[in-house]
Amino acid sequence: MNDIPSMQRAGANAVKAIIDDVIAEKLDVEKIFSGSKGTFRIADLGCSVGPNTFIAMQNITDAVQQKYQSQGLAFEMPEFQVFFNDHASNDFNTLFVSLPPERSYFATGVPGSFHGRLFPNFSLDFVYSSYALQCLSKVSEELLNKNSAVWNKGRVHYASAPDEDITAFLDCRAKELMVGGLLVLIMPGVPNGIPHASALTGAIFDFLGQCLMGMAKEGLISEAQVDTFNLPVYFASPKEMTQLVERNECFSIERMEITLPCAGADDLIV
Ligand SMILES: C[S@@+](CC[C@H](N)C(=O)[O-])C[C@H]1O[C@@H](n2cnc3c(N)ncnc32)[C@H](O)[C@@H]1O
Repeated sequence: MNDIPSMQRAGANAVKAIIDDVIAEKLDVEKIFSGSKGTFRIADLGCSVGPNTFIAMQNITDAVQQKYQSQGLAFEMPEFQVFFNDHASNDFNTLFVSLPPERSYFATGVPGSFHGRLFPNFSLDFVYSSYALQCLSKVSEELLNKNSAVWNKGRVHYASAPDEDITAFLDCRAKELMVGGLLVLIMPGVPNGIPHASALTGAIFDFLGQCLMGMAKEGLISEAQVDTFNLPVYFASPKEMTQLVERNECFSIERMEITLPCAGADDLIV
């Protein structure tokens, strides 16, 4: 059975070829080089502690180097700087001590939520985020209100669309990315037109809720604890992501694909 980090790694591997293609076809290295003063800046938002982020960052720097070579710009090869971002509570010490010694980039840690600004205007060439944007900044207050129609009694997940979170994320990145840069998002999702409750993840969350209710019936925890516990995650569909990106108006979608990185994992959007 796949554990969670290796499932995420399978997801990142499944999109490696797509990222290589997009860098080869879409990355405007001449425009970027003229504004970058010789440094190509990459951010991994929600990087955790590794090692998946190290593999992804090496793949991206390799693909960008390849692009410079194929454009006849090998003599102007940039230096690379990678910004590793996660919440301030992330174990950045573990990340830093396990940085690959042979890496081809300078490493910087950036603590803070990616739902807000993390970088100065036009300071990044490439933004990558893998299996992180499904995490919500907060659970809706309504779920905890006994008088609300969506009070979440006995359940641990409610599929309400997190428009503000993804909108805030896109607004911030639109300011931070250079013109001609790329934003790659890998996120677990649900197929278009499938109700959240019918998707694999919905069934898993319902099962988890039932297990907790079973524990409450045995007196191990209280029902009130189950009622007030809600997982702050949301799995968007390609249609929802398209609408949010179009509403932002600063990005164009160059590729969006659903992959199934490994058996048992849910769909994946790039
Ligand atoms: C499931 S892990 C994915 C780690 C890694 N990107 C990978 O693909 O293996 C999600 C990570 O996103 C981080 N994260 C969630 N919400 C975040 C936010 N608002 N700002 C920064 N990091 C966040 C979590 O702390 C966690 O380390």
